[in-house]
Amino acid sequence: PQLIVTTRDGAEHALDAKAGWSVMENIRDNGIDEVLALCGGCCSCATCHVHVDPDWFAKTGGPKADEDDLLDTSDHRSETSRLSCQILMTAELDGLKVTIAPED
Ligand code: FES
Repeated sequence: PQLIVTTRDGAEHALDAKAGWSVMENIRDNGIDEVLALCGGCCSCATCHVHVDPDWFAKTGGPKADEDDLLDTSDHRSETSRLSCQILMTAELDGLKVTIAPED
């Protein structure tokens, strides 16, 4: 599936993503280093924060309780904020668009 990532400089990157990998893993695997993912994807650092395109947010679903709490610690939380390690890339998410959140 394709994953469209907007980096902090505003550039859009169309990635050939792997299904079964998280959005965070796919971003890092494609050489984009703006997602620190310090905790390695176990939902405890919030350095993998992205804003999901509003058209896609319903498809990815909202954050779970622990993810929601972590997102609240960010100054850049928006209506469509998610932790990218908690979104699993699937065929149904082909074309998903996310924007990497500013650094906290
Ligand atoms: Fe740490 Fe996502 S990588 S919360």
